[in-house]
Amino acid sequence: MERRTIGAGALAVGAVGLGCMPMSWAYSASRQRGEESLRAVHTALDAGTTLLDTADMYGPFTNELLVGRVLKERRADAFVSTKVGLLVGEQHIVANGRPGYVKRACDASLRRLQTDVIDLYQLHRADPEVPVEETWGAMAELVRAGKVRALGFCAMGARGGRRSGAHLYDATIRQLTRVQQVFPVSAVEAELSVWSPEALESLLPWCEARGIGFLAAMPLGNGFLTGTLTPGEGFEPDDLRARHPRFTAEMMAANQPIIAGLRRTATRHGEHVTPAQVALAWVLAQGPHVIPVPGTKQERWARENAGAAALRLSAEDLTEVKELPAALGSWD
Ligand SMILES: NC(=O)c1ccc[n+]([C@@H]2O[C@H](COP(=O)([O-])OP(=O)(O)OC[C@H]3O[C@@H](n4cnc5c(N)ncnc54)[C@H](OP(=O)(O)O)[C@@H]3O)[C@@H](O)[C@H]2O)c1
Repeated sequence: MERRTIGAGALAVGAVGLGCMPMSWAYSASRQRGEESLRAVHTALDAGTTLLDTADMYGPFTNELLVGRVLKERRADAFVSTKVGLLVGEQHIVANGRPGYVKRACDASLRRLQTDVIDLYQLHRADPEVPVEETWGAMAELVRAGKVRALGFCAMGARGGRRSGAHLYDATIRQLTRVQQVFPVSAVEAELSVWSPEALESLLPWCEARGIGFLAAMPLGNGFLTGTLTPGEGFEPDDLRARHPRFTAEMMAANQPIIAGLRRTATRHGEHVTPAQVALAWVLAQGPHVIPVPGTKQERWARENAGAAALRLSAEDLTEVKELPAALGSWD
């Protein structure tokens, strides 16, 4: 698989990463697959993926434990990214960016991951109660202590107003500018996909201009862009899509032209090429610093998604995708 370099420290990773979240979080617990998830991670590594994206919050904690089982056996094959700053409470998810907490959380992640260094330590959310420079300063100390190689910043949570376009990431960019003065940002993780291209307007160019890697979260539109979901099929109450405005039966039906377009492009590249691979190749085409991190718990999808690294979209393909209708169904 092609390798891509990100960040000031020129970290090399396989062009397509693996999002480990669906193995233990966000999609219905009833669909979690235990040992098959482990095989999915091995399959991705065998195919040249190196970046494994997890977080202490996923599970909580069980996703890091699962990734740790793989790292114990093949640490040299993987580039592990985990996150700090969100805690799962009884009722709500809460942010904690206090320096003492960040340092304790890092030690706990290292233990669960069965490693002595985290390749990329990401701030999952800035804590509104703590100046972001203080949280970032604590994370920088972890780099100096040799527990972490590089720092990343997640720019998620901007969902309300996601369709308001150009201003979506203004606040994030202001925060990024502040933390950059404390310690270099090596990667930013934010949503980017064919049906959520907002980051292209300001956030992605901001990263590119500074040599910062861009980890594209939800590059398959939470599964929609794969064309394998049926409108009206329904989601379990603990599946994030049960509350997602684009996953009502009506909106899924209304957005089918996007799938039809991806399928058209896929067909031009051969009968085995899938809409999911076109969706990932489109993300890859947004810049040499962009790494899609498709999430899956299934071996077959891990293999298929890694295969997207070899798919090169032509100018005609990219124009066709660009001209697809904008997705319907918004958060606000
Ligand atoms: N930093 C943050 O705050 C943040 C937020 C959200 C996500 N992320 C990261 O981004 C990663 C990706 O996001 P995501 O997992 O929510 O969304 P996604 O990658 O857009 O889609 C994942 C969904 O697509 C399905 N899928 C994957 N590959 C497929 C294929 N080839 N064919 C058919 N279905 C396929 C998966 O099914 P199965 O589960 O059945 O395999 C899963 O339901 C996460 O895993 C996480 O690491 C980060």
